[in-house]
Amino acid sequence: MSLWKKTVYKSVCLSLALLVAVTVFQRNLTPHQFLQEPPPPTQEPQKAQNPSGHLVNPNSFWKNPKDVAAPTPMAPRGPQTWDVSTTNCSANLNLTHQPWFQGLEPHFRQFLTYRHCRYFPMLLNHPEKCRGTVYLLVVVKSVITQHDRREAIRQTWGLEQELGSRGAVRTLFLLGTASKQEERAHYQQLLAYEDRLYGDILQWDFLDSFFNLTLKEIHFLKWFDIYCPHVQFIFKGDDDVFVNPTNLLEFLADRQPQEDLFVGDVLQHARPIRKKDNKYYIPGVLYSKPSYPPYAGGGGFLMAGGLARRLHRACDTLELYPIDDVFLGMCLEVLSVQPTAHEGFKTFGISRNRNSRMNKEPCFFRSMLVVHKLLPAELLAMWGLVHGNLTCARKLQVL
Ligand SMILES: *[C@@H]1O[C@H](CO)[C@@H](O)[C@H](O)[C@H]1NC(C)=O
Ligand SMILES: *[C@@H]1O[C@H](CO)[C@@H](O)[C@H](O)[C@H]1NC(C)=O
Ligand SMILES: *[C@@H]1O[C@H](CO)[C@@H](O)[C@H](O)[C@H]1NC(C)=O
Ligand SMILES: *[C@@H]1O[C@H](CO)[C@@H](O)[C@H](O)[C@H]1NC(C)=O
Repeated sequence: MSLWKKTVYKSVCLSLALLVAVTVFQRNLTPHQFLQEPPPPTQEPQKAQNPSGHLVNPNSFWKNPKDVAAPTPMAPRGPQTWDVSTTNCSANLNLTHQPWFQGLEPHFRQFLTYRHCRYFPMLLNHPEKCRGTVYLLVVVKSVITQHDRREAIRQTWGLEQELGSRGAVRTLFLLGTASKQEERAHYQQLLAYEDRLYGDILQWDFLDSFFNLTLKEIHFLKWFDIYCPHVQFIFKGDDDVFVNPTNLLEFLADRQPQEDLFVGDVLQHARPIRKKDNKYYIPGVLYSKPSYPPYAGGGGFLMAGGLARRLHRACDTLELYPIDDVFLGMCLEVLSVQPTAHEGFKTFGISRNRNSRMNKEPCFFRSMLVVHKLLPAELLAMWGLVHGNLTCARKLQVL
């Protein structure tokens, strides 16, 4: 083949390949965009057609997201997308020379060494999750390995639903990365697959460890502030609790999203635990006051969307604290908001007696909002009992 022929041949092949690539790309994009559309407009067609201005602009398709001009700011809101794209977190070596630091247990040293690193990039995101009218966003703290818990929750209390004019109930799981380095690549692939099936996973690039739960808290609040400007209420909980969505919704029915609503299993004047063998042990150098501000157990609580957005800014003024629910109590204190205790939230245990009959009593679960600690099989079984032909002698009045 002559050189000239070769060149023509090459460019024809290249054009063909490009054409195919573009076609495939656009095909892929179309159903995806459909998925991201909100449900067909019912009452407010104008608003539904343009959900908070997030529609993909066809003209900006090839542009780098950073080149695309931001819409003219109507209200002083923060970034419109997750704006952290690199992990640039170096160890704070200032501490290593301090004698009090050297005396600490290794996990406290690790916590303090990276305490100043507050935000990490996103690995899995769902910017479309809050589009349309979302009444209640259910968010569940989970870790990669607990796939069976997420599966049980999707079939039970995490089931998404439409509440007519009130809007929708949507569910998301909040994750970091696998804590064991050698497991990471493998689990990451499984998680990406799970997310392709369900589209309900938010993942950030930080280690999923106990002390990093506070990071999960502030990452979610920042994410919510960016992507969910109109969501009315949030339920946030663990992946090993029983939740009764019917009761949650009944409870919320006469609440206003403008209220400073923060309801859960609230502890007043809880003392920091100073026994070293306890999971919640806190050394005096980390927290010296005799008691914590009031806070709700992280197993499950409800808050209003507006409060969550203010909470995001309040938390940003504080140094991170290793216990996530206590940290949230500290943020509430900045806002002078008192969390409200409610009998229906049992996140610190039901009865002092572990063998109490209440632990297995479906009538009890039916009358509660949140009950702590159930394994996936127990959750599925209890869900079946509570929603089956259950005759309870009397309805416990907790709502
Ligand atoms: C990370 O931060 C250091 C100092 O804080 C800076 O010198 C470096 O350029 C940063 N790297 C990246 C990739 O942003
Ligand atoms: C370490 O100390 C220096 C000087 O006091 C300060 O500028 C720097 O911000 C400190 N680093 C961290 C991570 O706190
Ligand atoms: C939290 O995650 C970051 C980023 O992965 C990691 O560097 C840090 O060690 C973790 N902290 C704890 C206490 O596990
Ligand atoms: C519930 O009760 C109805 C009528 O009493 C019966 O037909 C049905 O099979 C029962 N369902 C279950 C799950 O027991």
